[in-house]
Amino acid sequence: MMQLHNLPEAYAKVHLPSKVALAVTQKPDGNYNLITIEWFMRTSIAPPMFAISIGHSRYSHDCLQDVRYFNLVFPSRDQKDLLSLAGSQSGRDIDKFSAGKVAFIPGKLHKLPILKDAAAVFECEVVTQVNSGDHTIFVGEVKYSWSNAEGEVFYYE
Ligand SMILES: Cc1cc2nc3c(=O)[nH]c(=O)nc-3n(C[C@H](O)[C@H](O)[C@H](O)COP(=O)(O)O)c2cc1C
Repeated sequence: MMQLHNLPEAYAKVHLPSKVALAVTQKPDGNYNLITIEWFMRTSIAPPMFAISIGHSRYSHDCLQDVRYFNLVFPSRDQKDLLSLAGSQSGRDIDKFSAGKVAFIPGKLHKLPILKDAAAVFECEVVTQVNSGDHTIFVGEVKYSWSNAEGEVFYYE
């Protein structure tokens, strides 16, 4: 029977399993940051676009206001520890790439890191953004796409 509940209770019923991603951004000093995100989606076929929703308080938000590129990373099952690190620490306080011993090669668009162990990576340029309560939705046009024959995508259970 359908009943009225508060949002956390109703959302708990439909929340999991879910895909979780990482977004790579560039820090003002030229180094890179990583954030774990669950709120993202594909938004256009031609041109291809992804949107990511980033909280106003996140360091990644500051980075995206400054440098208008991000890499959307679909992690592999081996990258659970990195998802925990990137989702619990701020790039204001630590360098998540060295803390997580992240292996990468430079991308083709703005040289943002392509994580070698990810399942897939999409290099995006921010083309528009929308304020959404306490988050901002950054919409990125995909310029280059990478995928890894060995990596199986991670699901958050
Ligand atoms: C599973 C999971 C999903 C998350 N999804 C989002 C999200 O969609 N948007 C967001 O702004 N923060 C999200 N977070 C929180 C950020 O990852 C977290 O606050 C992070 O430490 C911010 O890093 P930064 O300050 O370096 O940007 C999520 C965290 C976890 C663990």
